[in-house]
Amino acid sequence: MEAEKSHYEDWYPTLGKVQAYLVEQIRRYSEKAKEETGHAAYEHLIYRVKEPSSMNEKCTRKGYEVSAYTALRRLYDAIGLRVVCRFISDIYWNIEMIRKLPGCRVVREKDYIRNVKPNGYRSYHMIIELEAPFEDIDGNDPGRFYAEIQLRTIAMDTWASLEHEMKYKHDIRNPELIVSELKRCADELAACDLSLQTIRNLIQSDPDSQEKER
Ligand code: GTP
Ligand code: MG
Repeated sequence: MEAEKSHYEDWYPTLGKVQAYLVEQIRRYSEKAKEETGHAAYEHLIYRVKEPSSMNEKCTRKGYEVSAYTALRRLYDAIGLRVVCRFISDIYWNIEMIRKLPGCRVVREKDYIRNVKPNGYRSYHMIIELEAPFEDIDGNDPGRFYAEIQLRTIAMDTWASLEHEMKYKHDIRNPELIVSELKRCADELAACDLSLQTIRNLIQSDPDSQEKER
């Protein structure tokens, strides 16, 4: 197949397989952590391959050519995973585990937890390049594929989904109030995440605790 002639749609099944391959590796280290410490590495994991229509829309919005090559080589989020954790320390633990996955190279990272966005958005974003046992658009087998992994606490995730919902509502009567209330709420949730972390650390460092540290 000539690379330039393929469409993003043609890559949809391969991307699904690469995503499953990545998800499997993450689930595996989490299962292992659960056996060893009694806790899974994360609360839940969701994932999706970007729909062709939204990929085409993104290429256009960025001023790029709408092509499979753009989607797979210039953009990095055709495969998207979200790792939702109970505690902030779990986020950083998962980041280290992801870094160590075989064939994984971290291309870019954005720590919106330490560098909070002005609207209050918190999350850790990693772009990885993964070597996987499937032929890629350049004809390499094993191939190289990109994925975006977002890591957040449950509180951050709840906030982000509400804020996302608001972005699509254009008939809101008092948008300034909602934006400022969302910001206030994000900061309160962040304070709670810190308190939960502190309490967890206290429980784990208690000499009588049955909890095993990760
Ligand atoms: P794009 O790749 O074009 O989205 O831009 P970017 O690479 O600068 O994006 P960034 O890494 O900042 O964010 C990518 C994704 O993070 C978005 O598609 C959203 O899922 C999520 N995200 C980033 N900022 C926000 C935000 O302010 N609110 C919410 N709800 N989600 C956000
Ligand atoms: Mg992005």
